[in-house]
Amino acid sequence: MKEPLSRAFSAQINKEYFSAFFYLVMSDYLDAIGFKGAASWTYVQYQEELAHAQNLVHYLHARNENVKYMTIADPSGEWNGIKDVFLSILKHEESVTESISELATLAMQSGDHAAYTFLHWYIAEQVEEEGNVQDVIDKLQIAEDNQNALLTIDNLLGARVYVEPIVPGVGTSI
Ligand code: FEO
Repeated sequence: MKEPLSRAFSAQINKEYFSAFFYLVMSDYLDAIGFKGAASWTYVQYQEELAHAQNLVHYLHARNENVKYMTIADPSGEWNGIKDVFLSILKHEESVTESISELATLAMQSGDHAAYTFLHWYIAEQVEEEGNVQDVIDKLQIAEDNQNALLTIDNLLGARVYVEPIVPGVGTSI
């Protein structure tokens, strides 16, 4: 793997770990304001983000590359209610989508077909994540301040369970 591409993979690993802790902080906040289902949903996403990072680590290992671990940015934030959290998630995932796209472009420009193909899973995953979050935002917009509707949405979010992502190219994940 060419050095700039390897470095960009390490930078993406850092972003995925940041994502994990960002979701963890949001999970704590949602729990504190009484949305236990949404807190559970974001905790599941925290677990997914750890797997996203770890699968990138496994991929670099499979390519005999070293990971450059970097300081993870402060994930703390302030929100004004559940909808604000999900709007913040969407904005964050849009930035991750951009970052993955740039990484895939670099893989392509480096002529690294293996890395480019590997990243297709991440590209598809971003489409799914943005779609899921937009769906939650749509529901929250319909509910507005209706407490019963908000609790129903919270219950639905609480039904999400963690399923370990299987990323082609690295076998089973963490
Ligand atoms: Fe690892 Fe939320 O994308």
